Amino acid sequence: MTTQLDLSSVDEIVDRHRSQDDALITMLQEAQQAYGYLPKEVLTRLSRSAQIPLNRIYGVATFYSQFYLTPRGRSIVQVCRGTACHVRGSSYILSTLADHLGIEQDGTTEDMQFSLETVACVGTCFLAPVVVVDGSFHGKLDPVEAREIVKSYAAQSEQG
Ligand code: FES
Repeated sequence: MTTQLDLSSVDEIVDRHRSQDDALITMLQEAQQAYGYLPKEVLTRLSRSAQIPLNRIYGVATFYSQFYLTPRGRSIVQVCRGTACHVRGSSYILSTLADHLGIEQDGTTEDMQFSLETVACVGTCFLAPVVVVDGSFHGKLDPVEAREIVKSYAAQSEQG
């Protein structure tokens, strides 16, 4: 059974911005907020509704790292790959977390609980190496501590 995506939110977003010039980025941000990511059906509907060529929409959606064309996990684990974190071993943290979750970098677990991403310097180099989980910063970690933090998020979501 396939479930049909309700695309009415796309039309509402387009209606809100119809009179604005070049509101494409704003519309994509709002669509991503509404659907969690930007599935093909949403982009196609946006193209028709806003009368913007689909290839232009894809061009923008793939250019900016803030946009996601595939679903992301309920928790987002971001490993900082900036210089300070890199020299303090962030690549070991990344490989440990990837092993623990059984996914690659930029992957999402099958149960959709976690996505594992890398990010550029998050601005707290004094805490290097840094892992950000759902917006919360965890610093001065070794790979084992990073894994324990991810485990604690998994335990929390099982309880919740
Ligand atoms: S390099 Fe990681 S916080 Fe700056």
